[in-house]
Amino acid sequence: MPTEDALRSIPAYELDRPMKAILIGPDELTARVREMGRQVSDTYRGSVPLLISVLKGGVVFLTDLMRAITIPHHIDFLQVSSYEGGTKTTGTVRIMSDLGINVAGRDVLIVEDIVDTGLTLTYLLKQLEIRQPRSLRVCALLSKPAARQVDVRVDFLGFEIPNEFVVGYGLDYEEKYRNLPYIGVLDFK
Ligand code: IMP
Ligand code: MG
Repeated sequence: MPTEDALRSIPAYELDRPMKAILIGPDELTARVREMGRQVSDTYRGSVPLLISVLKGGVVFLTDLMRAITIPHHIDFLQVSSYEGGTKTTGTVRIMSDLGINVAGRDVLIVEDIVDTGLTLTYLLKQLEIRQPRSLRVCALLSKPAARQVDVRVDFLGFEIPNEFVVGYGLDYEEKYRNLPYIGVLDFK
């Protein structure tokens, strides 16, 4: 939870629904992402890892994380879909848009915004493993352990959060709220 002072320094974003709570403020995000960047740099020093961001939610995290990573690395993107706009997973994951870079023999790091049921990540790990990377790890900003339906390993994790639908810092509700510089819970009432 950000302090009163920290809250006052957040610009007044125009929202079409009230925000119930701010779970993680901009300063906490910045500090944690910087630490994660250090961990990733230490883990991959001597290699040029390939960071794969999962569109679109993972993009804000990736762009901050890569500037906190002090070793050379490559980035690429893929898009999967299972939510189709709502707040509940449909359980079916599809690759909507694939990578441009060959992952064979590469040290691959998947950069995800959030691990919820774990279904998306499990599917992605399986699809990427088939392409024979040298190593395959996961870096996720957020995890909701209470929502997990399949066990999935996360090698670098930013924050554990309660089982609530969150928006901001890349995460959307009906494609909106991705621009917020914090992680918040919308008021659906
Ligand atoms: P999972 O397959 O249920 O683990 O969900 C993974 C994807 O669902 C994430 O990469 C997000 O795009 C989306 N998602 C899960 N929880 C939330 C949330 O609280 N807010 C916004 N998107 C979410
Ligand atoms: Mg996502």
